[in-house]
Amino acid sequence: MLKKEVWVKDLIPGIAVTDMFVVAEMGSGPKPSGKEPLKFNLRDRTGIIRAHAWYDQDIDRYRELYDLVSGACEEEKVVMVEGVVKEYRGERDIEIKKIEVLEDGEFEEFPTIASLGDEEIERLWGEMISFVERRLAEEGDTPDAKFARRLLEAFFNDTDLSARFKKSPGAKYYHHAIEGGLLEHTHNVLRLATGTALLFRRTYENSVSVPLVMAGAVLHDIGKVESYLVGRRDIRETYEGQTIGHIFLGMRMVMELARGVFSDEDLGKLPALLHIIASHHGYAEFGAPVEPKFPEAFIVYYADDLDAKLEHISRLPKDLPAFSDMLRRVIYPPKDWGE
Ligand SMILES: [Fe+2]
Ligand SMILES: [Fe+2]
Repeated sequence: MLKKEVWVKDLIPGIAVTDMFVVAEMGSGPKPSGKEPLKFNLRDRTGIIRAHAWYDQDIDRYRELYDLVSGACEEEKVVMVEGVVKEYRGERDIEIKKIEVLEDGEFEEFPTIASLGDEEIERLWGEMISFVERRLAEEGDTPDAKFARRLLEAFFNDTDLSARFKKSPGAKYYHHAIEGGLLEHTHNVLRLATGTALLFRRTYENSVSVPLVMAGAVLHDIGKVESYLVGRRDIRETYEGQTIGHIFLGMRMVMELARGVFSDEDLGKLPALLHIIASHHGYAEFGAPVEPKFPEAFIVYYADDLDAKLEHISRLPKDLPAFSDMLRRVIYPPKDWGE
């Protein structure tokens, strides 16, 4: 029986590879008449790597190859590839010489999706809840603190929703693309945003509602629960995720949560909270239907952006400099003067 030996994290430019991976995503692909290779991504538990295959400008060969690779991607099948690891704009890229779809039973199953692990997920979840409870208790009984407390309690106590939240990845590819990634990201955004809100409230008297920032931070990406699912071997984007997106899905989920907690006459800061979710990608070009329009929304946007980028950089190949597709630049190691 075939057994996996080489992992994505160990692939370095120049080496030949013959091993098993899962097709994680198809590239946009060339038109059948194009001169570009067929592009796709391969994954295992340790990461995702680009791959490309040539077809000698033979259109029939291209179509055959495309059907084979996209079919494997669709069905989350394992493929055996033979190729050479190359480097393209600072990123690793396997030039595929041969690719074959394997059937279950032909190989020993291997982990294909990274996970924070059940223990770490429970630890982070507990830490996030106690952080919220402690911090909101210090806010006393202001209307905003009551609003945030009641809404977040409803979320934490919803066993079905919280179970899905805890397992959800933060994204399919660019950041926190692991089981539990959404929780890890949310936990960081919450602490970053709350610390920032406290700082600015202290500096510029009563300029920021800390409870509103906290509710926004915890719930900003809740729509990802409905946007992604952890499949058999790959992280998949749901139809709603692809066509509606996590921002609108999240707003809908928060409205539903609020409906179970508040009366129609007293929705408290719900409109403001919806604005924070709607604007948390900052700019229209990054998918925000509106741009941040008050300080709490700016804080959540910057906290979200910072955490997503730093986590993404932490997963780039360790031997920097490396090109980042997401950031559209080469990331360098910080060096000492004269080094
Ligand atoms: Fe988001
Ligand atoms: Fe986010």
